[in-house]
Amino acid sequence: MPLSESPFLRAERRESVPFTPVWLMRQAGRYLPEYRALRARHAFLDLCKNPDAAAEATLQPVERLGVDAAILFADILLVVEPLGVGLEFAAGEGPVIRRPVRSAADVARLGPVDVESAVGFVFETVRRVRRALDGRVPLIGFAGAPFTVASYVVEGGPSRDYLATKRLMYEAPEAWERLMRVLVDATARYLNGQIAAGAQAVQLFDSWVGALGPDDYAVFVLPHSRALIEALTPGTPVIHFSTGTAGLLPLVRKAGGDVIGIDWRIDLDAAWAALGHDVGIQGNLDPAALLGPPALIRERARAILERAGGRPGHIFNLGHGVLPDTPVEHVRALVDIVHELSAR
Ligand code: CP3
Repeated sequence: MPLSESPFLRAERRESVPFTPVWLMRQAGRYLPEYRALRARHAFLDLCKNPDAAAEATLQPVERLGVDAAILFADILLVVEPLGVGLEFAAGEGPVIRRPVRSAADVARLGPVDVESAVGFVFETVRRVRRALDGRVPLIGFAGAPFTVASYVVEGGPSRDYLATKRLMYEAPEAWERLMRVLVDATARYLNGQIAAGAQAVQLFDSWVGALGPDDYAVFVLPHSRALIEALTPGTPVIHFSTGTAGLLPLVRKAGGDVIGIDWRIDLDAAWAALGHDVGIQGNLDPAALLGPPALIRERARAILERAGGRPGHIFNLGHGVLPDTPVEHVRALVDIVHELSAR
């Protein structure tokens, strides 16, 4: 879909002014007091599996911040739970996979999964959120890209160097291929289910693929991310996000997406030039800037908008998720600043 037809650029209430839409990656979360209140009542996975509570968590940042899109409250790892790898969210530790997939034999044990019935609660959340939003802002669904999801499944949790993942890739390339095919198939079903339920755009998070060099990305990742994007229901814009990939951007673009999401480690104008101006771009404020005072936040936001040069096809965002210690007033101020500066 041409970017000019994307729901972001058609937000009705701003039709007549040049306008840079803003939503924030991981805009739900612990920095919001109302989210902490919800979490006091539900464990994280229970929250994801309860469509009423998950819809509430999705709407909280929309009400509180005035962002231009809602992002579904869910997680990239929900799709691997039915693979039987033992997904848990341990307090303070982030995600844990109790039975990591480390060898060809482990990969061979992964059976086909009935994704649609295993994660039906996510689709129900999408339907409830769409009803509650009633057209105010579009709803973005999401999933993890195959590399990033594989990295959790193989490492067993977050990692610094991704050595178990790289070892599997190098030592057992056929097993790696099979793991990627299993994840592409499950993720395509997961995203197409969200789209069928009403998600108006989808974002693919390849948060950790910046651990790879260009040759490894081209061989071990690109064909699979591309196969996933090609398997998605046509007509829904796809945002393809990664971090630490300044040196991989042309390859990330080759894998696909209507909009490429970037982090702050490259200037937005340099990234857009590397990608080509015929693709949309999303980014790229360092989330840590929100720890600074409003005057600094304003300066940093202004610099990004200047680098975007008023071109259509820029979605303002953080280069990664909102950090838990961020003052809510700073996040709210950022949204107002971007709206003010981009409407000029
Ligand atoms: O508002 C939103 O942006 C929607 C919600 C969202 C969550 N996870 C909820 C969540 C989104 C878009 C994600 C994606 C996700 N999950 C990614 C890709 C984005 C990124 O930040 O790179 C990744 C790598 C994950 C895996 C994951 N889930 C991690 C690493 C963690 C721990 C994070 C932490 O801060 O401890 C989670 C848990 C998680 N997912 C939380 C939230 C709000 C915090 C859980 C809590 O309430 O304790």
